[in-house]
Amino acid sequence: MKNVTIYDHPLIQHKLSILRDKNTSSKDFRELVSEIAMLMCYEATRDLPLEDVEIETPICKTTVKHLAGKKLAIVPILRAGLGMVDGVSRMIPSARIGHIGLYRDEKTLQPVEYFCKLPKDIDKRDVIVVDPMLATGGSAIDAVKQIKARGPRSIRFMCLIAAPEGIEAFSKAHPDVPVFCAALDDHLNEKGYIVPGLGDAGDRIFGTK
Ligand code: PRP
Ligand code: URA
Repeated sequence: MKNVTIYDHPLIQHKLSILRDKNTSSKDFRELVSEIAMLMCYEATRDLPLEDVEIETPICKTTVKHLAGKKLAIVPILRAGLGMVDGVSRMIPSARIGHIGLYRDEKTLQPVEYFCKLPKDIDKRDVIVVDPMLATGGSAIDAVKQIKARGPRSIRFMCLIAAPEGIEAFSKAHPDVPVFCAALDDHLNEKGYIVPGLGDAGDRIFGTK
């Protein structure tokens, strides 16, 4: 699959296995989502440009590498995407944070927009969109469309679990946006849930079920 990275790192796979377990508490679930997002961030930012900077160590002057520009934005899709913000922003503390509010209509499975607040200078930023679940792909497709309309420098999409249906729909709608996911699952069930998945990510993060 072009433009799709699936993580096979043992730490990520181990944490994901606990996340999937229906007996995992909301507290542990939140911590794991954040930790996995932090680990995934490492690979998802591998191609960020660097620039040479002169500094002085206690020993001598030297040239070191800094992130060029450091103009990033993290955009979680509400609600469940919020769970990934802490992990990513710990790795990129200077990143601005935007929010896109979407929920899936339970019957039609179509995304319903209810909020959008993005950094004013998003046209000068590289954007990382985060949401734990890519199911039909409708929410992520819509969120990326809203961000593209504001002309960011680049967009990448990071999720924990993707369904093949979601990957296909997203890659068709946004072939230019790389997708990073910790696992590619089997299929969607008749209610649009990922199988085997982890259930409803938002409900498990916020304990709302
Ligand atoms: C979940 C999830 C994604 C969406 C994925 O959100 O966090 O945003 O479903 O499904 P899709 O790929 O079929 O669009 P949900 O609609 O349950 O809202 P919530 O995060 O507020 O619970
Ligand atoms: N949203 C979720 O939270 N879980 C799924 O399996 C599908 C969509």
